[in-house]
Amino acid sequence: MGISQTPLKRSKELQPFSREHHHGLLLCWKIRKGITNGVEKERIKRYADYFYKTSLLPHFEDEEKYVFTILGNDHELVKKALAEHRRLTRLFLNEKDIARALSKIEEELEAHIRFEERILFHEIQLVATPAQLQWVDEHHQEIKACEDWDDEFWT
Ligand SMILES: [Fe+2]
Ligand SMILES: [Fe+2]
Repeated sequence: MGISQTPLKRSKELQPFSREHHHGLLLCWKIRKGITNGVEKERIKRYADYFYKTSLLPHFEDEEKYVFTILGNDHELVKKALAEHRRLTRLFLNEKDIARALSKIEEELEAHIRFEERILFHEIQLVATPAQLQWVDEHHQEIKACEDWDDEFWT
């Protein structure tokens, strides 16, 4: 698998996931900004928890139910993505070592999203049948990210 493949235009049925990825990258940016600005870790954690519950967990669930199944759970790329979902979930649920967990989330969520966008989704699009893409379209509603968080520690 090469990272330098010619980018394939994202099929419209998968575009809602790509927009959600954009919000995930934004979360990473906000965490990074918070850390750099010396914001209290609990404030960052509160927002990260909220984002995880309302946006990221449902995103993971729908990827696993409707998108990864196109390649199948035995596919190496899917195994890698599933392992990353589990690892990220553990980091979000970690209440003991918050500062370290946040900095790992920032790093690993971004890497996970880049992997999905550049490699996994590319591969899925190459093999997906129109019927499978239609199935995704019918079952996944774009998850709107919360824009009304009062404590904007990243500004
Ligand atoms: Fe994912
Ligand atoms: Fe994703």
